[in-house]
Amino acid sequence: MTHLPETFRAFRIHNDDAGYRSGIEQIGPGDLGEGDICVRVEYSSANYKDALAGTGKGKILQKFPLSGGIDMAGTVVTSGSERFVPGSSVIVTGCGLSESRNGGYSEYLRVDSSSVVPLPQGLSTREAMILGTAGFTAALSLYRMETNGQTPASGPIVVTGASGGVGSIAINLLSHAGYEVHAISGKIEEFDWLESLGARQCISRHDLHWGQNPLEKAIWAGCIDNVGGDMLAGISRVIQLWGNIACCGMTGGYGLHTTVFPMILRGVSLLGISSNNCPYETRKTLWDRLANEWKPPMLNQILCREVGLEGLMPAFNAMLAGSSRGRTLVKIAA
Ligand SMILES: NC(=O)c1ccc[n+]([C@@H]2O[C@H](COP(=O)([O-])OP(=O)(O)OC[C@H]3O[C@@H](n4cnc5c(N)ncnc54)[C@H](OP(=O)(O)O)[C@@H]3O)[C@@H](O)[C@H]2O)c1
Repeated sequence: MTHLPETFRAFRIHNDDAGYRSGIEQIGPGDLGEGDICVRVEYSSANYKDALAGTGKGKILQKFPLSGGIDMAGTVVTSGSERFVPGSSVIVTGCGLSESRNGGYSEYLRVDSSSVVPLPQGLSTREAMILGTAGFTAALSLYRMETNGQTPASGPIVVTGASGGVGSIAINLLSHAGYEVHAISGKIEEFDWLESLGARQCISRHDLHWGQNPLEKAIWAGCIDNVGGDMLAGISRVIQLWGNIACCGMTGGYGLHTTVFPMILRGVSLLGISSNNCPYETRKTLWDRLANEWKPPMLNQILCREVGLEGLMPAFNAMLAGSSRGRTLVKIAA
């Protein structure tokens, strides 16, 4: 039986009479909560949802206090499950981390084995967290689109919120999987970078002039949408016959004002992407693909920032201002 240290560092989020606040604290094994597996966390990552939780700009946590961080990769320290022995490398993304239970911004974390995926051969813990929830979400989007008939021969796929974590990985993944990819981004200065990741065409978000008819001239065979709101409504009007829209995010708004015409006249499918509670077998399949045939070849170029727990707040603020790009890796283990 391995003993945990009496205290270790975590980025904790509180909401009580003293107000909403977050920061680095020393916690102990008694703060870790329930779970049959204890992990020494090596890496986590910063996602848009982490920024909302860490700053209090979004209602993410269902109870307080908790450690932040929806992602983690590390090494099992103690295990009550036959599936994992101490020393195994593992990943958890979503599954209620930093929502209903402690998350990965903590040197140690207790989790349920039902949410733990063995680190597949072909990925390091560091690479797994460069991918993190963003990479998993891009993979889940492609998986759902292909399950629904999408192929490279169907035509080009457009990615919105292209310079963000999900967006940049989606571009590299789709292009690697043989798709022609177009990118919609608010950052003209990142067009060269987006093209280097595999975007064939880059379009400025500020120069989009969607026609307002329920159906406009069809442009793309599919979309991975990270923006929602008016962007998603506009996209829905220009997707080709039998195309798929993977609905991932809402950086531009959570409303959706459209009509049923794309669905009933063009057979367009709006696919819901919920990485947090993806079924276990699909979760495992997708991590295996991300370690093999779907491993984005330009992970090192997609990683744009590496921080420790001290660097979380500036990273969150950049994300919420829409000014970050690519992925932010969070190094946890000393
Ligand atoms: N459904 C799921 O399971 C799931 C999983 C992960 C993430 N998400 C969601 O997906 C979205 C992206 O997450 P992320 O981690 O990739 O975030 P991110 O790294 O912060 O990227 C978001 C990107 O959205 C664009 N953007 C920002 N503000 C915008 C605005 N006001 N209007 C239009 N576009 C804006 C920006 O890209 P450009 O400047 O290039 O346009 C930004 O880089 C978030 O809404 C997140 O909550 C959902």
